[in-house]
Amino acid sequence: MTRNIGILGAMAQEIDEVKALLTEKTVVKIANREFVVGKIGNVRCVVAFSKWGKVAATITATLLIQEFAVTDLIFIGTAGALADGLKVGDIVVSKRLVQHDLDARPIISRFELPLLNRVYVDSDPDLTALAGRAVSNLINKGVESIVGKEAVKEFNLNPTLHFGDIASGDQFINSVEKRDEILSLLPDVQCVEMEGAAVAQVCLEFGTPFTVIRTISDTADHNARVDFGKFIVEVANAYSRAIVQEIMRLV
Ligand code: ADE
Repeated sequence: MTRNIGILGAMAQEIDEVKALLTEKTVVKIANREFVVGKIGNVRCVVAFSKWGKVAATITATLLIQEFAVTDLIFIGTAGALADGLKVGDIVVSKRLVQHDLDARPIISRFELPLLNRVYVDSDPDLTALAGRAVSNLINKGVESIVGKEAVKEFNLNPTLHFGDIASGDQFINSVEKRDEILSLLPDVQCVEMEGAAVAQVCLEFGTPFTVIRTISDTADHNARVDFGKFIVEVANAYSRAIVQEIMRLV
């Protein structure tokens, strides 16, 4: 089967950079969303801005699968670090996704996905390995060639790649208390964002292989808002474009 890869991004500007990579483009609008169909290199792709939060991302992921018949789904964006040792500019590729704000106790256990009998959704091992290879290649090449010298200096970038669990919820986490609470309940979680686990659930139900790639933009504490805005503009957009381009080269 010819691959037709869906690419979702959590920030409009970030996904605009990815859209710029597409050739033979067609734009389709559904439900206030713009889906750009085309090719990156030789690979057929559909690129869309997921919008923010679990519900918005669920709608976009479902449309990608149902209307555009994507064979794989890659989510790319930023996240707040929870795990010790993760720093701004590092990249986390998902092993498993969990919704940290899902709680249907006492009917079922905390974080359990109703009627799915599980807390975590595993990302696809092959797609995750592919994403990891692409990120490694870029790190080895040096991020200076992606974001420029200034940004490397400003954000003290020295990125490392991590594979691990990612937690999602409909909250921007910007306090040490909230960050520590999530970590105490879900100690394996590396980072926190607002869409990945929703997309994972959609992909589980449709049987679509997926992976999530998140660049650490902040440490989910009181500085998160400031760090996040600057980082998106100066680093994340360029990272996303380069990672997607490298993945398509390796496919
Ligand atoms: N995305 C990037 N940083 C985040 C944070 N601190 N909380 C939730 N989503 C994020």
